[in-house]
Amino acid sequence: MSSELESQAAFEATLIGFLYRQYTQPRPVPADTRVTDQVAIVTGSNIGIGFEACRQYLRLGISHLIMAVRSQAKGDEAAHKLRKEFPGSNVSVWTVEMESYDSIRAFVDRCAALPRIDMVILNAALMRMAYTTVPATGHELTMQVNYLSTALLAILLLPILKSKKIDGAKRPPVLSIVGSDLAYRTEMETKGPILQQFDKSEGFGELLWYGRSKLLLTFFVAKLAEFVDADDVLINMPNPGTIKGTGFFRDFPTLAGKLVAFLHFLFGRRVDVGATTYLDATVVRGKEGHGSFISDWAIKPYPLIWYGAEGKVLNERLWEETMQELNFVGASKILEDLKTRH
Ligand SMILES: NC(=O)c1ccc[n+]([C@@H]2O[C@H](COP(=O)([O-])OP(=O)(O)OC[C@H]3O[C@@H](n4cnc5c(N)ncnc54)[C@H](OP(=O)(O)O)[C@@H]3O)[C@@H](O)[C@H]2O)c1
Repeated sequence: MSSELESQAAFEATLIGFLYRQYTQPRPVPADTRVTDQVAIVTGSNIGIGFEACRQYLRLGISHLIMAVRSQAKGDEAAHKLRKEFPGSNVSVWTVEMESYDSIRAFVDRCAALPRIDMVILNAALMRMAYTTVPATGHELTMQVNYLSTALLAILLLPILKSKKIDGAKRPPVLSIVGSDLAYRTEMETKGPILQQFDKSEGFGELLWYGRSKLLLTFFVAKLAEFVDADDVLINMPNPGTIKGTGFFRDFPTLAGKLVAFLHFLFGRRVDVGATTYLDATVVRGKEGHGSFISDWAIKPYPLIWYGAEGKVLNERLWEETMQELNFVGASKILEDLKTRH
């Protein structure tokens, strides 16, 4: 488990650590893996790593794939490509706008009506170039989508996943929340309120806010896993690594875009290789990875800060603030009930 890997955390934050990760030999899922009869949901799956993960599930024979996207038109176009490649496949396109708590709640209601759910990948995320707030919440957009809304969706899905656990199944349902190894190299102010820091435009930097959103999400996933037994729902955080050819840097200005393209040329993984990290997290990893950061097809440490006294304070305060933000749906109670209800 990541919580036991403190001694490796400093290395992961170094350049050599990054290169070591990027040049790790990919470990595809075992050749005999099949997910026939299973149902998977992937958010942000009209493009990029999420789309490729969908393709890989279909290759393994998934019986129902739900592409959760914010644009019906883009989702339909992506689903059309997959249906053409996998004739007879059962691919649905459902909308979820991660900027909107209402949209997330409506999406969760649809999920609750599914007869079964075996794996969910919360992959949708973005890096906003300019400081922008979401009018309905007042929060900065990157932090809203990547952290707060992802946390809400995870919390609302957990009891549903638990209720859909199939007696006698080899694995319980899996909830994978996508992280980033940028969290290893991201620092942040830990004194005072945490979330409020991001609601001010001073000091904004797109990479900084993005890295911090994923750092906070890593803390969140580690804590969330404490509320659910790994026999009921497996929770983990896959990191795809630096991937070329996705839409992630589409808004970068020309020069910065060219620099990213050059770095990708040197170090980037192909998107299909990146997607195998999602498959590894959702169909290979078991209880040993519960609550863990899974990168390069192995369980890796959390960012170094997580282990120290400063990290413990951050952990507690972040959790408290996150619950305050999300208690309009009864987040704390949902999680407490998970611990007690069988
Ligand atoms: N690319 C990398 O090098 C890298 C490295 C580490 C981690 N990651 C993580 O991997 C995941 C996938 O990244 P990617 O490179 O595949 O990026 P991508 O190609 O840009 O895909 C991101 C997906 O998220 C969706 N999305 C963004 N904002 C949304 C919102 N408000 N509501 C609903 N969906 C929204 C996008 O939808 P639209 O197409 O409609 O915008 C798109 O489908 C992300 O979590 C990212 O943080 C990526």
